[in-house]
Amino acid sequence: MPDAADPTPRSILDVIGHTPVVPLQRVARGVPYRVLAKLEYLNPGGSVKDRIGPAMIDAAEAEGRLKPGGTIIEATSGNTGVGLALVAAVRGYHAVFVLSDKMSAEKVRLLRAFGARVIITPAQLPPDHPGSYYSVARRLAQEIPNSVYPNQYENPMNPEAHYRTTGPEIDRQGGEKLTAVVASIGTGGTVSGIGRYFKEHRPSVRVVAVDPKGSILGPYFATHEIARPVPYKVEGIGEDLIPKTVDFRQIDAFVEVEDRESFLMARRLAREEGLFVGGSSGSAVAGTLRWLAARPVPEGSTVVVVLPDSGDRYLSKFYSDEWMRENRFLDEGATAGDLVRGKDLAPPLVAVDPTTLVRDALALLERHSVSQLPVLAGKENVGSVAEEDLLRAVLGDPTVLERTVGAVLGPPFPEVPAQEPLADVLRRLKEVRALLVRDGANGAILGLLTRHDLLAHLSERGTDRAV
Ligand SMILES: Cc1ncc(COP(=O)(O)O)c(C=O)c1O
Repeated sequence: MPDAADPTPRSILDVIGHTPVVPLQRVARGVPYRVLAKLEYLNPGGSVKDRIGPAMIDAAEAEGRLKPGGTIIEATSGNTGVGLALVAAVRGYHAVFVLSDKMSAEKVRLLRAFGARVIITPAQLPPDHPGSYYSVARRLAQEIPNSVYPNQYENPMNPEAHYRTTGPEIDRQGGEKLTAVVASIGTGGTVSGIGRYFKEHRPSVRVVAVDPKGSILGPYFATHEIARPVPYKVEGIGEDLIPKTVDFRQIDAFVEVEDRESFLMARRLAREEGLFVGGSSGSAVAGTLRWLAARPVPEGSTVVVVLPDSGDRYLSKFYSDEWMRENRFLDEGATAGDLVRGKDLAPPLVAVDPTTLVRDALALLERHSVSQLPVLAGKENVGSVAEEDLLRAVLGDPTVLERTVGAVLGPPFPEVPAQEPLADVLRRLKEVRALLVRDGANGAILGLLTRHDLLAHLSERGTDRAV
C-alpha cells in the first residue's frame, strides 16, 4: 500500500487490486438478479493472480527464504507467473516458470517479455511423474541456489491474499443485497480466501466454485473420492490433484462447466458486454447463470462473479474462429455436401474427361474463371489439371494444345464424402488446394470444394452466426 502522506504508488505492485465491478447487462438479461462482474483482468499483470505474487514473496523475504539477487521458481498456468514476474522485476529477482504445454503461446511470450525463463513440460503427465510441471519446479528449486519455490498449490499466502483483499472489496462493492459470490477454481486460493472472509464476516453470503468438467475438484466436493481426471481445454482452472490451498469448508456449492460453454460465454462477454476476458471468466459467468437458474437465492439479490484474467492471452485460442472450428466448439451444422450444393454454378460440376483436348480444357477454365479442374472418367476420379501447368506445357511446346489432358495429368484431388463436417473440410484444406465431394449413397461426384469456396462461405456467414 502507498504511504498515507504520499498516495503516489511506489511501484506497479501498489496498483494491484481494488478492481471495479460492472453489472452484466446482455448476457444476464431476464435473470432476476443483479449480476456484478469483478474485473480482475484490470490488475496490472492482467489477472487475479497479481494479488498473490507479492503476498507469497513478502512472506518468503520475511522468513529469510529469499535473499537479494535470488531466483523465484514457480509451476504456473501462466498468470501466477506474471504476478511473480512483476515482483521479480520491481525487486530485482530472477524468475523461472514451469508451464505445461497446454497453455497458450501468448502466456509463454508474456512471461518471457518480463525477462523470465520459461520451461515447458508435457500436460498429460500425472502430478507425481518426475517430468510433470509440479515435479520439475520442485527439482529446480532444489538445484538452483538462493531460490524460492512459492508453490501456489500449498502456500497459505495464496488464499490469505484473497482473504485480505478480494473478499473485503467484494463485500463493499456487493452492497447490502449481496447474497452470493462465484469464482472459478484452480488452486482454490481465490474462492477459499473469499469464502473464509465471508464465513467470518457475513456468513449469509453463499460461496460458489466453478470447476471445468474433467477436473477432480467438483467430484471430490460431492463424493470425497478422487476421480480420474479427464483432459479439458480451458486454462487455469480445474485440477488433477487436490491442492492444499483449497479449503472445501469455505465453499457452499460447486458448478461444473464444459469447455464449449466457457469459450462461447467468454466470446459473448467480449462482444456483448465489452469485457475482453479469458476462458475461465466464461466458465465463471456460465456457471453463475446455471447456478442461478435453480433460484438458490431470493430474487432481486446481488451476485458477484470474479472474472480472473484478460482475453489477450487467448487470441490464438478461443478468440480465433479457426481454433474454435478445429476443436468443434462452434455449431457447425453444415457439411461439404451443403457447401458444394450451395455453389451457384451451372453446371454444378465443372470437369473434363481424359480425352478432352488441352485447348478445350483451357477454354473451360477460362469460361468458368477457375484455376483447376478434376479429370473424371465416369464416376472415377483419375486426375486433375491446373491452368498454370497447362500454360507452362503449352508455352514449352505449342503442339500440347492439340493433345488430350491425359498427357499433362496431375494427381487426383483427395475426396471427402458429402456428409463431411465443415470443421474437417477446413482441416483438410489446410493441406490440399481442393477436395472432391462424393455422394456417399450413390457414389456420384457432386463437385469440387476449393479453399476459396470455404473462405467465401465463412465470410458470408459472418462471425456472429458462427457463434
Ligand atoms: C485464468 C485463471 N482463472 C482462474 C484461476 C483460478 O484461481 P485460483 O488458483 O485462485 O483458484 C487461475 C489460476 O491460475 C487462472 O489462471
